[in-house]
Amino acid sequence: MTYRFPDGFTWGTATASYQVEGAIHEDGRTPSIWDTFCAEPGHVFDHSSGEFACDQYHRYPQDIALMKTLGIDAYRMSVSWSRIIPELGGPVNQAGVDHYLRVLDALRDNGIKPVVTLYHWDLPQYLQDRGGWPERDTALRYGEYAGVLARAFGDRVDTWTTLNEPWCAAYLGYGCGDHAPGIKDHAQALAAAHHLNLAHGLGVQAVRGELGDAARCSVTLNLSVTRAASDSPQDVAAKRRADLLNNEVFLGPMVEGRYDPELFSATEHVTDWSFVRDGDVETAHQPIDVLGVNYYSTNTVRWRDENSVEAVADDGPVATSPAGLDVHNDPIPAQESVETLPPTGELTAMGWNQDPQGLTDILVELAQRYPELELMVTENGSAWEDEVTLDPQVEGVPAGDDGFAVVPGKIVHDPQRVAYLDAHVKALAAAIDGGANVTGYYAWSLLDNFEWALGYTKRFGIVRVDYDTQERIWKDSALYYQRLVSTNGIPE
Ligand code: NOJ
Repeated sequence: MTYRFPDGFTWGTATASYQVEGAIHEDGRTPSIWDTFCAEPGHVFDHSSGEFACDQYHRYPQDIALMKTLGIDAYRMSVSWSRIIPELGGPVNQAGVDHYLRVLDALRDNGIKPVVTLYHWDLPQYLQDRGGWPERDTALRYGEYAGVLARAFGDRVDTWTTLNEPWCAAYLGYGCGDHAPGIKDHAQALAAAHHLNLAHGLGVQAVRGELGDAARCSVTLNLSVTRAASDSPQDVAAKRRADLLNNEVFLGPMVEGRYDPELFSATEHVTDWSFVRDGDVETAHQPIDVLGVNYYSTNTVRWRDENSVEAVADDGPVATSPAGLDVHNDPIPAQESVETLPPTGELTAMGWNQDPQGLTDILVELAQRYPELELMVTENGSAWEDEVTLDPQVEGVPAGDDGFAVVPGKIVHDPQRVAYLDAHVKALAAAIDGGANVTGYYAWSLLDNFEWALGYTKRFGIVRVDYDTQERIWKDSALYYQRLVSTNGIPE
């Protein structure tokens, strides 16, 4: 018999403002750190930027028609901070607010719940000019911004997500410099991590302050699933070190109200953590209604033999450094003794492994650690080298006077993405059977989009975007997802 997900399970797709919106100069928006980073040579593989992206800023009605055809229950999207508050301490930009009100209303009119991420990496450049996330002031400004959004959007938002993947914002942005603002300084990365924790707490407080305790609040973490290469005490210690710096640094304050003291001792050669002030951890530790987990792949680590440190360091991090870019820093501090092994098996176009069991493992582990906590998979997906096939049998999705939401006559056959999706929803089902209270799943992504430092070279969409014409084109994975959603069960 086909597996059925619990009644009321939420199926969605996810995107983020800078990756899909385009329209970077419109309606009063000012630059974010990603505009600046993309404009500097050498950061983005194909020298592109989010200037046009998927043009969703203008095409959201068609994209919502597409979502409706997919049958999804929810859309996970993010808000561009510098559209809302374009200048430091400046007034709220009503034109920016109005754009999102139109999107939220259109989603509601189509019966799609908005899950809104307040921060998905596009920090206003004016805040980076004052130091960015390593500075406490950025967290305080974030709290104000969260209050502005709560006042403006009110009950149009189903779920408020404070931050997306603070790991990336801190470590890729400030540790190895693969992401904006491109800083390579482990001390700044740890200060950024702390201020992101603080921002999360201030954000929840601001949203609840405006909307009351009933406001459904969350945060999305990309918790690493790290396996030890063996059960030797050294390899287990390497895993422990990786878990501490990847996961505990966020889970601790946000969910448990503490920093593991080992985090401080492991990084004392990097920073003294004097940026943590009395009361910060308590602020970060706000009750949340649901924890979002982004999941793609796993890592295997072993204790690094001291003699090989230099050789390995020269190669850079295996999983996170975009191929072809001149980046050799480890994003995470205090990893001198931790060696990440090359991934094995059939790798995705990102060079990441496929390990659906890791999704089951992390969800069940979280459920055991935090039995009361509701979970949702806020991102999961894979990039492949897609090709378009012409097929006159393929039907499009008409979008009234606006042409097509998805064009007819073209399709991408993406068996690897379908297989990845199928394996991971089965892993999700196994986690639910294993006792994890998972209430939603969001495919990354609705559309191919701007994949950060890899530009438009990696395609994660279940729907293809032709960037020359802005046509949306079906992929088999979208049709698979449509079947999954309509039956609330895994397609045979
Ligand atoms: C996680 C990030 O949230 C998203 O922005 C990114 O595109 C995907 N991972 C794929 O790398």
